[in-house]
Amino acid sequence: MDQIIVRGNGPLKGQIPISGAKNTCLKLMTASLLTDEPLTLTNVPRLVDIETLSQVLESLGVEVARLAAGRVMVLSGRQLTSRRADYDLVRKLRASFNVLGPLLAREHEAIVSLPGGCAIGARKVDLHIQALEAMGAEIELEAGYVHAVAPGGLKGARIDFPFVSVGATENAMAAAVLAKGETIITNAAQEPDTVALADCLVAMGAKIEGIGTRELRIEGVDRLHGTTHEVIPDRIELGTFMIAPAVCGGEVELIGGRRDLAEAFCEKLEAAGVTITETETGLKVARGNAGIDAVDVTTAPFPGFPTDLQAQFMALMCTAKGTSRLEETIFENRFMHAPELIRMGAEIDVQGGVATVTGVEKLKGAPVMATDLRASVSLILAGLAAEGETVVSRVYHLDRGYERIEEKLGAVGADIRRTREHG
Ligand code: UD1
Repeated sequence: MDQIIVRGNGPLKGQIPISGAKNTCLKLMTASLLTDEPLTLTNVPRLVDIETLSQVLESLGVEVARLAAGRVMVLSGRQLTSRRADYDLVRKLRASFNVLGPLLAREHEAIVSLPGGCAIGARKVDLHIQALEAMGAEIELEAGYVHAVAPGGLKGARIDFPFVSVGATENAMAAAVLAKGETIITNAAQEPDTVALADCLVAMGAKIEGIGTRELRIEGVDRLHGTTHEVIPDRIELGTFMIAPAVCGGEVELIGGRRDLAEAFCEKLEAAGVTITETETGLKVARGNAGIDAVDVTTAPFPGFPTDLQAQFMALMCTAKGTSRLEETIFENRFMHAPELIRMGAEIDVQGGVATVTGVEKLKGAPVMATDLRASVSLILAGLAAEGETVVSRVYHLDRGYERIEEKLGAVGADIRRTREHG
């Protein structure tokens, strides 16, 4: 197994290119199930999660071709050969549960394993199932699988989500585009990933109104056609690399970075004393000598502060001046990075969904363990600012969501390398 070794190495300087968004690309890929024509995606990130979903789609009969060194992906679901997504693949990636809606809409039957994914709470799928049942699907749970049938096809329905779920909104929307009649989804996710999926579906011939709002109105159509769609920049990778110069000092330009993808996050970073400038090619982030101020954060669905940047922000708060309060409202078990940061000398007190972080002068390098995707990168960020060496093990989590992280950070002056774990 690989591990990553990081040493504090002073201020960072230079440019980091931001890759296409993992979570956007995953949802766009599932749209290939809705048409017998090819769907071409550009700006595809090269990540383990993308590879895993490709395998899930291939197992259903979608042909997946990669061009331009993997940056372009052509998905052709001309004829689907299976309606069953197996546990062996689905357990590796929760987002693969999002094949359920499109598969059911097109084939009128789908058998999909209950998902796995990051261990950050219970992560139920009840809202996905309720939405599809509202559209007329009959659903049974059989030995860890969801077996859904809709003999005459799905029918438009009113779906009132009790709270925002990104995945359930996307699953329901991707099913409703081929349902008979109108579907109204309230409390819909407004995440850029959800908007990108809706835009792509419209380009494929779907009729969706209210894109980017809390209420979606979808008029089902008989068939969708192929299109070409560019994956937007990854706002979580962007936010993560914006924190790097905030932690270490220096000035880094994030090429392709867009403020509108991460406005709430940018405002918190500025409140902490970081300067963010929009440039012609992206966003420039600089931290002067004044240091970082403690700032409180509460995670919320978009346009709020993203839960996927909470761990990284905590790494920054560990050496801020004063005490910050970080409240996690999306997932119930998402402070697993806290005990690891404490091993590096951080002062963090976790009570339920609230972490109180009291800034210390300096963190100290230590061997630490990655527990999920965003937690692992927070340990790397902490290591960049720590005295001595930090060894992050179990970095396979990291490779699910960050492309060439050691190269990208190394290029701006970070002392970071990947080695093989011994023993
Ligand atoms: C997506 C993102 C993930 C991000 C999360 C919240 C992808 C591939 N992943 O995950 O990176 O952290 O949004 O921004 O896009 N819930 C239920 N029942 C359901 C569905 C969800 O109770 O049927 C709960 C979850 O347990 C969680 C909350 O709702 O507490 C939000 O989850 P959701 O928005 O669905 O997250 P994902 O789509 O899984």
